[in-house]
Amino acid sequence: MDIRTHAALHGKHALVTGGTRGIGRAVSQALARAGAGVTACYQRDLEAAAALERELKLAGGADHGTVRADLGTPDGVSRLVESYRERHSALDVLVHNAGAISHVPFEQLDAAEWHRVLDVNLTAAYLLVQQALPLLGPGASVVLIGSKVAQVGVPLRAHYTAAKAGLTGLARSLCKELGPRGIRVNVVAPGVTESPAVDRLSPEQRARYESMAALRRLGTPEDVAAAVTFLAGDGAGYITGETLHVDGGM
Ligand SMILES: NC(=O)c1ccc[n+]([C@@H]2O[C@H](COP(=O)([O-])OP(=O)(O)OC[C@H]3O[C@@H](n4cnc5c(N)ncnc54)[C@H](OP(=O)(O)O)[C@@H]3O)[C@@H](O)[C@H]2O)c1
Repeated sequence: MDIRTHAALHGKHALVTGGTRGIGRAVSQALARAGAGVTACYQRDLEAAAALERELKLAGGADHGTVRADLGTPDGVSRLVESYRERHSALDVLVHNAGAISHVPFEQLDAAEWHRVLDVNLTAAYLLVQQALPLLGPGASVVLIGSKVAQVGVPLRAHYTAAKAGLTGLARSLCKELGPRGIRVNVVAPGVTESPAVDRLSPEQRARYESMAALRRLGTPEDVAAAVTFLAGDGAGYITGETLHVDGGM
């Protein structure tokens, strides 16, 4: 007997943006392990996309794939949704995880950089949910990946924190508007999570971040993926409009 037929997301299909690397990769893997078919979107990293495809294929089970699209443009979002629609008639789990960030003193933050970061983190979420709406039926779950910094603020990242805070407002309003259709919309807000950027921190910086978490360690992509998988499934069927912080108690 295939254990996946009893898995929480068996028979469902998920679309994960930024789904081939970092946190998104862990989300794609966790959703696939829970029985979902996964379509992972990426922008540039062909190698990471090919590696994830191989892995998901080996895992077997549902229909998995990757799609390349630049979500920083409305055309890119449309291409992604169109390409998904060509292969699937319904979408059960939509995870907007793709993100862009930079570290810029506020006086030097020009409009182009402001828009680049807002476009990928926030505008893409608006366009994705809107365009995917005809595919989302009762029971569907939308999870937006925000950030703890949206709540606490951080210097040099005014554009990023504004975008991530915007996701919380978007989820709050969409939960009211889409709730009557049985569609849930939530945010998962990671704290400092293991990633190549974190690998570049000095030992002192890393120790400082670890000491800021009540659990005295950084998060892992798997910690975030577990929260997303919970919100994706029927076990979270009465949770919507929520922001779930996965930050070790920061
Ligand atoms: N790591 C942390 O400490 C942390 C903390 C809080 C929140 N977050 C949030 O968690 C999410 C994932 O973070 P991460 O650290 O795993 O990031 P990451 O390793 O930098 O991965 C970002 C992902 O987004 C994709 N992406 C970036 N720009 C894109 C675009 N224009 N179009 C389509 N895809 C695009 C990338 O695609 P390619 O692989 O093709 O480049 C990549 O898969 C982000 O939303 C981030 O803001 C992270």
